[in-house]
Amino acid sequence: MPTTTDKDTASLQAAREVIEQIKKKPQSCLGLPTGRTPQALYRHLIAIAREENVDITGVRFFGLDEYIDVRQESAFKTYLDKVIYQPLAIDQENCFSPIMIDDYDALIKRQGGLDLTILGIGGNGHIAFNEPGTPEYSWTHCVTLDESTRRANQEFFARPEDVPRRAVTMGIQTILDSRKIILLAFSKSKISILKRAFNGCVEGAVPASFLTKHPNLEIYTDFEFTWLK
Ligand code: PGA
Repeated sequence: MPTTTDKDTASLQAAREVIEQIKKKPQSCLGLPTGRTPQALYRHLIAIAREENVDITGVRFFGLDEYIDVRQESAFKTYLDKVIYQPLAIDQENCFSPIMIDDYDALIKRQGGLDLTILGIGGNGHIAFNEPGTPEYSWTHCVTLDESTRRANQEFFARPEDVPRRAVTMGIQTILDSRKIILLAFSKSKISILKRAFNGCVEGAVPASFLTKHPNLEIYTDFEFTWLK
């Protein structure tokens, strides 16, 4: 399990993992997060893909989640367009969002299932938008966002009241079904929730704790962290 104390190095290592996955299986299905955490990973991914001329034309990209009732400029799909799809000139036909379709899980299955899913972790232990209280056996569903989540994402909106109250998200099972998972946790503010998730009880109160059940999980942090499995 790689551990490091430097966010950029951790993001680079994680980006290399993604590139390896694409090289190994050019038709890979990837689950992608938004927010602050994955930005450096996307930057490195773009640089390596260009440098090594990696063929990404067969890769399918699945956003983890999306706001409901959001202005287009603040939509997660717009974020992913800006930070990864457009820079890599990815065909829009290969870019999916859970807001696009009723049965996202069936779509993912038809495409062969997720090979690699990248996650951040919320300060309250959420993964994607699976807030505390989400059952383990949940698939893609609509959620009401926690006030703490809305506050954490306020900086992406002009006014606090503009932060949407609802979203659609891959469920815990959608995520656990992914053949491999990379979890990124950067900044000291994530230490205590990461410890609770991985060294405490496996419970819906800390949705990230369900990740302990996954056989192929890698955690990248910018602080010392040992997972006592
Ligand atoms: P952040 O959010 O990357 O903006 O810290 C992580 C998350 O909510 O999953």
